[in-house]
Amino acid sequence: MYELPELPYDFSALEPVISGAIMELHYTKHHKAYVTNLNAALEKQSEAARKNDLAEVIALQQAVRFNGGGHINHSIFWTNLAPEKHGGGGEPSGDLMKAINHDFGSFATLVEKMSNKSVGIQGSGWGWLGYCKEKKGLMLATCSNQDPLSTQGLVPLLGIDVWEHAYYLQYKNVRADYVKNIWKVVNWTNVAERYSKAK
Ligand SMILES: [Fe+2]
Repeated sequence: MYELPELPYDFSALEPVISGAIMELHYTKHHKAYVTNLNAALEKQSEAARKNDLAEVIALQQAVRFNGGGHINHSIFWTNLAPEKHGGGGEPSGDLMKAINHDFGSFATLVEKMSNKSVGIQGSGWGWLGYCKEKKGLMLATCSNQDPLSTQGLVPLLGIDVWEHAYYLQYKNVRADYVKNIWKVVNWTNVAERYSKAK
């Protein structure tokens, strides 16, 4: 059984960048639903496997991918963010900053490119900064719906949720403003930890 992880801050802690109302809905309704539906799909799947109903096992794959991806992505997302007064925003330092400068030329270029890619996603999805073990470097990617970044062979470091549920209550249809502001609450310490583990 998968469980909803604890949110490392209060619902209103990311204001004014992300409103408390969005955070509460996002965490207690959306993320919770992914966890509930993932557990239900896995249970049905193991039941089907016990009955040797391979067609049903396969039919449930999509629900596992969607809800499992939603659980993975949101669990990373909450820790990727931090209130401004508790270290959110600013710039990374150390090895991560060196890698960003090496792979993107500058921090400003990373922000610009990742913002553009995330804003440009058609429909629902995620913008990601990931680590490619093969190329031993940082890469940007986008994923549709709740596909986890691992499906593209990358280790997730920093994700931007651009589903409308992540911003619509506050930013309406202006996804670009939400993405522009989210950099003010990025927890670079968390991203750096993920980077050093990925290496
Ligand atoms: Fe979300």
